[in-house]
Amino acid sequence: MTNREHFGSRAAVIMAMAGSAIGLGNIWRFPFIVGEYGGAAFILIYILCSFLLSLPILLSESIIGRRTHQNTFGAMNTLAPGTKWKWLGLLTMVSPIIILSYYSVVGGWSFAYLCKAVSLQFRPENAETVTGMFGTFSSSTWGPLACLTVFLGLTALIIFSGVKKGIEKFSKISIPVLFVLIVAIAVYSLTLPGSSEGVRYLVKPDFSKLTADAFSAALGQSFFSLSLGVGTMLIYSSYVNKHENLVASGAGTAFFDMLFAILAGFAVMPAVFAAGIAPTSGPGLVFETLPFIFAKMGSGGIFISSAISIIFFFTILVAALSSSISMMEVGVAYLVEEKGVTRGKATLGIFAITFCLGILCSLSFGVLSDFKLLGNTIFNFCDKLCSNFLMTLGALLFSIFVGWKMDKAAVREELTNGGSIRFNSKIFPVVYFLIKYVAPVTIGVIFISGLLA
Ligand code: PHE
Repeated sequence: MTNREHFGSRAAVIMAMAGSAIGLGNIWRFPFIVGEYGGAAFILIYILCSFLLSLPILLSESIIGRRTHQNTFGAMNTLAPGTKWKWLGLLTMVSPIIILSYYSVVGGWSFAYLCKAVSLQFRPENAETVTGMFGTFSSSTWGPLACLTVFLGLTALIIFSGVKKGIEKFSKISIPVLFVLIVAIAVYSLTLPGSSEGVRYLVKPDFSKLTADAFSAALGQSFFSLSLGVGTMLIYSSYVNKHENLVASGAGTAFFDMLFAILAGFAVMPAVFAAGIAPTSGPGLVFETLPFIFAKMGSGGIFISSAISIIFFFTILVAALSSSISMMEVGVAYLVEEKGVTRGKATLGIFAITFCLGILCSLSFGVLSDFKLLGNTIFNFCDKLCSNFLMTLGALLFSIFVGWKMDKAAVREELTNGGSIRFNSKIFPVVYFLIKYVAPVTIGVIFISGLLA
């Protein structure tokens, strides 16, 4: 791979990886999962899972990617030629495409809601009708499909621009902007009368609410949020140069991702409590409840309620885009490097496949809502297949590969840059122990118990 692109700096690596990690998982999924599993106690388990289990997986993918500087399939073929491990490379080709298909539907909704906010539809006098708006919109045919096309089109445009001019440039601008915006929304949310109850919910753990389920939900959330087990972190690491400190960029990514999720919790929960709505109101929280709250509670009338809705849906849209590009890059890199296709054609190819599947996912809220796969709508089936099964399986296999199949000396070389990073050399035994034993055993137990349940 002679003229392969590389990220330009440590900041670029962290921003790109954080860009992949920070997305709908943080703003849309995290608040309602926290709501379902009882607040602060769940957040503590989530943080624990992120550092003890997810970070080792992130490092495993980073090691494979940076060592080979290849796409996921090429990487597995280089490190374990002629073995079944190439299937792991292929698995990571399929999972991001499926995720991108349904993720883009939600990305499309955020685009639609941004347009609604800009056209001043979330006014105080409309508040009561806002909640019903979501069901009507998502179950219709053409509106969501048009928004899906815009969202996937934007994703393809950034990917087509390349690693440095597309991914790096977009992430370096969007991530700092996202942090500023989410802090602004959290501050606004905290000023609403009655919001302190929401703060208490987020900071005061009630361990009695923790069920056994909460542990696998925390792990699933942490994997989804850090984009693990589907090759996205592998492919981004394959654009990282040999001097970069993988442990530092991995830990930085995990830290920013967690910080953003917690900030999103503070943006959403205090507002939800202020409006006296149950925190357990599920996936509709962001698209049904929040616009209602912003419309109704804005003390500054239409101007403030519209401004805050615009900021909120713009934040979701940009965060979703910074993640969707990482999913598309996995397949594009594969087609370019393994099949000799140009970047333009590869982007178009992945766009076409995800678009077709995305149409089915979108219609499963409307005309295809009665079509069920194992009792689920197409959208829910894709989500469950990926977040409950394929991501965990991928993560498990990556840790087994790095812990048990790769040469320990090679793993040490990648994590310590040939021994030149002293701190990493010191902590190497602990990190290696987490990768080799703690991660596969714990994830394996959770994976198998999930299959048997
Ligand atoms: N991490 C992204 C989010 O939180 C989702 C994602 C999953 C991105 C898998 C890439 C791969 O929204």
